Amino acid sequence: MKFFIDTANLDQIKEAQDLGVLDGVTTNPSLMAKEGITGKENIINHYKKICDIVTGDVSAEVIATDYEGIIKEGQELAKLHDQIIVKVPMIKDGVKAIKYFSDHGIKTNCTLVFSAGQAILAAKAGATYVSPFIGRLDDISTDGLNLIAEIRMIYDNYGFTTQILAASVRHTMHVIDCAKIGADVMTGPLSSIEGLLKHPLTDIGLAKFLADYKKGN
Ligand code: E4P
Repeated sequence: MKFFIDTANLDQIKEAQDLGVLDGVTTNPSLMAKEGITGKENIINHYKKICDIVTGDVSAEVIATDYEGIIKEGQELAKLHDQIIVKVPMIKDGVKAIKYFSDHGIKTNCTLVFSAGQAILAAKAGATYVSPFIGRLDDISTDGLNLIAEIRMIYDNYGFTTQILAASVRHTMHVIDCAKIGADVMTGPLSSIEGLLKHPLTDIGLAKFLADYKKGN
């Protein structure tokens, strides 16, 4: 399973990259705003900085919601860097635009996906990635992981090559459960990646090994 970090914070992206397990980055307008990055030019410069840090795919979201606008904006974003993946919302014009991008060799991430039906549409349109938001489903008492399992089954039934990018991951158990189900990618905060390191028996075991080493030296 690929690990993407879901942030626009450059320090956190660097930290995840330095750990050596990072495969890419997802951003969205809210994450950009959280870092104080506003205005088209600043946002574009920020994408370039992110691409300089990581070696994998970097999702850059379009703001337009009409077909022509999405195409124009997506083409501009795709030209920025060969790591850029154009992130397009799951709306009617978005699906049409994903089909256009797919036919023209531009990679896409279909975002704001909350149902298996939406995931089927994204795959049929040729999306590179589909992003079901599991945390936001959990927030409304709906099983987000079950959606990942449904999409996995459907895509496997028909051999769809669209990669399931489990998004809105909030914690380490989401990461582990996504891996069990067979999500292709997960995107979450740095804490969901670094949290995987932690186990009290590791800390206790290491402390004992070091103490025993000191006894003999
Ligand atoms: C993914 O691409 C989205 O940006 C993200 O995972 C949304 O997560 P949130 O529900 O924690 O905002």
